[in-house]
Amino acid sequence: METEMGFSRFALFLFTIALLSSPVLSDLVLSKVDRRIYLTSQIVRYTATLRVENEGSELVSEVLLAFPELQAKNLAYLTVSVNEGKGKQKVSTDDLPIEVVSPKNMPPAVSFYSVTLPKGLAPGDSLTLDVMAVFTHALQPFPEKITQADIQLVVFQDSAYYLSPYAVKVQSLSVKLPEARIESYTKLENTKVHGSEIKYGPHEDLPAFSYSPIGIHFESNQPFSNAQEVEREIEISHWGNVQITEHYKLIHGGAQSKGEFSRLDFQARPNVRGASAIRYLVATLPPRAHSVYYRDEIGNISTSHLWSDSKKTELLIEPRYPMFGGWRTAFTIGYGLPLQDFLFQSEGKRFLNITLSSPMVELVIDKLIVKVVWSGKSSFSSSLDPVFLCFQVVLPEGSKDISVSTPFPVKQWQETKISHLDIDGRPVVVLEKTNVVPEHNKYFQVYYKFNKLSMLREPLMLISGFFFLFVACIVYTRADISISKSSASYLAKQQWEEVQAAIQQVESIINRCLATHDKLEASLRDLSRTGDVQACKAARKTADGLLKDLSKELKPLLAFLQSSPSASQILPKVEDLVAKEKELQERVMTKHSTVVDAYERKSAGKDIENRVALQQQKITALKQEVDDLMEYIDEI
Ligand SMILES: *[C@@H]1O[C@H](CO)[C@@H](O)[C@H](O)[C@H]1NC(C)=O
Ligand SMILES: *[C@@H]1O[C@H](CO)[C@@H](O)[C@H](O)[C@H]1NC(C)=O
Repeated sequence: METEMGFSRFALFLFTIALLSSPVLSDLVLSKVDRRIYLTSQIVRYTATLRVENEGSELVSEVLLAFPELQAKNLAYLTVSVNEGKGKQKVSTDDLPIEVVSPKNMPPAVSFYSVTLPKGLAPGDSLTLDVMAVFTHALQPFPEKITQADIQLVVFQDSAYYLSPYAVKVQSLSVKLPEARIESYTKLENTKVHGSEIKYGPHEDLPAFSYSPIGIHFESNQPFSNAQEVEREIEISHWGNVQITEHYKLIHGGAQSKGEFSRLDFQARPNVRGASAIRYLVATLPPRAHSVYYRDEIGNISTSHLWSDSKKTELLIEPRYPMFGGWRTAFTIGYGLPLQDFLFQSEGKRFLNITLSSPMVELVIDKLIVKVVWSGKSSFSSSLDPVFLCFQVVLPEGSKDISVSTPFPVKQWQETKISHLDIDGRPVVVLEKTNVVPEHNKYFQVYYKFNKLSMLREPLMLISGFFFLFVACIVYTRADISISKSSASYLAKQQWEEVQAAIQQVESIINRCLATHDKLEASLRDLSRTGDVQACKAARKTADGLLKDLSKELKPLLAFLQSSPSASQILPKVEDLVAKEKELQERVMTKHSTVVDAYERKSAGKDIENRVALQQQKITALKQEVDDLMEYIDEI
């Protein structure tokens, strides 16, 4: 009752558009408009297919799109393309140029965007436009404060009619909601609900700027992960690596949580007690990402999991505590990428081609800062040819030779970072963009000319060139002795590298085992929620298969480490790690069987919890031991 009254109060704030005398625009008419709004996550996505007809006598070269100002302020992303397909077949062209405009004699509180048509629309002709718009902060939590036990309800507002500066002949709107409760919604004639979809229309023959406010109040337990600021540093090291470091300031942007938080309640029934909490975040990193870490103010967190295939690397990170509405956290992730995947050469210039934004799934970023820097580290690795080294000291020549190309406008400038290694400082390219959504995660390019030995014609460069040559010669003469390929130390080094590679593989296998355990745990949580024993058993079967395969993969690696003298120091720890993981595996399996059995025998929830409590303690302790061992081995 309380929410319903509240909602009608809320409805008073629905924006309305004052209709002035119908402005004379152009001779365009929209013969058909299909609008779809997706409210299935915190990011509101909207597509519209517009059939545009020129009923006048002159060529028209622009089409105006209108949004209520209140919506436009949340508009993060807008693209329009010509749909050249016939019937159901969709063939979209490139995105058309869009410009913010303010035409005269228009109703107030409406924002306009002008879309330029590539060829213009001749009298009597028509074309179809595909519009896609993405909005942030467009779902308002209502009530604004909830307790841990409450579900999160939100309100969305729009118009049942397409707001258009042109008359619209036929139109319809469909709103897709999450598969959950619909608390209330504006009912007009011609409103239908199919499952989690609300349909308005068709409406026929409406004049320009027709407007009919609607509000939808519904359950949305999707995590509202909102980064108030993300700073990404992309460091190009010509030694073969691109190092990415991302700092996040995150807030749960959903309904504010009130009352006490009970971790016990949350752990016992996470889906009921804290349904809208942020429990984890997923990042999709490029393939071949390596040395991934995740840390917060306190230190490295090992409760992150990594999966990879040839197309991507998926990182799942779990903050130290589940985040409820209004809670904040700050953390950093870092990873390395192979340079050759992102740095290319063209016409005497090098260019970086890499994605602009954060790899986090469904994250809203209020402010994104991207910095591109060039590594000044010259860690002369003895495994490289020193003469080759002098050619690798590559830094951009000077700020004026750097150019940046972005797929959409961003604020950009250059800074200089001085360090003792540089002659006149290293340039830093800075990009800044507000209101960022996953759609912005496109490739951008930084082009630069570079300094290398062949450019020694300039006298100043000559001096620094000699300096590098000098260093290179010293290194070369020394290296000559130390890296002669048959020497004992060279062989030892090579063996050690092989051992390290094997250990890394062992760790990656253990990580995959841990991830499989987590999936089993998740299947138990699902079981407590849905009671679906068969699904839980199926999850177990998959996990059994996976773990068996992983154990097979592990065998040759262990055999290699056991046979390699270079591994003798670290071997006990690795064996310990494998043994501990095995024990953990057995415990997790036993717990899983216990719970599934209990469910089949329909034991009471309390009984199950009691029986599992002891097992859980051992599992937690073993997990910690495994984590500690991994950390220890990592530091070798
Ligand atoms: C965290 O891990 C990364 C990569 O493994 C490492 O470089 C860093 O030093 C670690 N930081 C701490 C505080 O342990
Ligand atoms: C950048 O990389 C992407 C993905 O590999 C590719 O589609 C795009 O054409 C590249 N851009 C340039 C300018 O090379």
